[in-house]
Amino acid sequence: MKGLARGHLSITVASTANYFVPRLWATFRMRHPSVSVSLDVTNRAGLIRALAGNETDLVIMGQPPKDMDLVAQSFMPNPLVVIAPPTHPLCKARDIPLQRLKGETFLVREQGSGTRSLMERVFAEKGLDPATPIEMSSTEALKQGVEAGLGLALLSMHTLDMELALKRLVVLDVVKFPIMRYWYIVYPKGKELSLAAQAFLEFVIQREPEILARMQASWPPLKKYLESA
Ligand code: PGA
Repeated sequence: MKGLARGHLSITVASTANYFVPRLWATFRMRHPSVSVSLDVTNRAGLIRALAGNETDLVIMGQPPKDMDLVAQSFMPNPLVVIAPPTHPLCKARDIPLQRLKGETFLVREQGSGTRSLMERVFAEKGLDPATPIEMSSTEALKQGVEAGLGLALLSMHTLDMELALKRLVVLDVVKFPIMRYWYIVYPKGKELSLAAQAFLEFVIQREPEILARMQASWPPLKKYLESA
């Protein structure tokens, strides 16, 4: 697989995965400089459309849909946490029950986002209906909103490296969090992968330790959750 002569690879990734895929691609490209790539970043609903229409070589997403005929390989944990601005009164609290967040304003992603549907499911299980949610259509807008003090948000740890390192955002110690999801690399069953796609798939699966180490560096308590994942 070393130094594939040429080829084009089209990858479609969840907006949350966009925080690690370009770095993966940069390393892959050093090994295979003649493989070109187009990267489409979209939410879960967009990923499902791309898979249904066979529009892309590989998809990187959270939980693949159960009602589609897909090949899906899980390759890495995706911890989700509740974040707050550093001035929030709960930043120093320990073992916060989810119910304690009842009166809080939450910033939420748009309909069609996998992060949003997970949040709705978790909150509904606890009979929680967050007060006056504020909807924003990108993770970046959401982080800016939390930093500005508009409210709290539930986000993947993969999106938070910089803000946690710079102490612009804080992970709240909420009971049963982080919620551990997984990343999957997915394509329609029966699709014949190109050499480039096959090489990228294998490469992605091998990079898990490096991506997790980076994430853990921005929030050391993550170690114990990853060990039991
Ligand atoms: P999303 O991605 O929130 O950007 O849709 C995460 C997922 O696929 O679950």
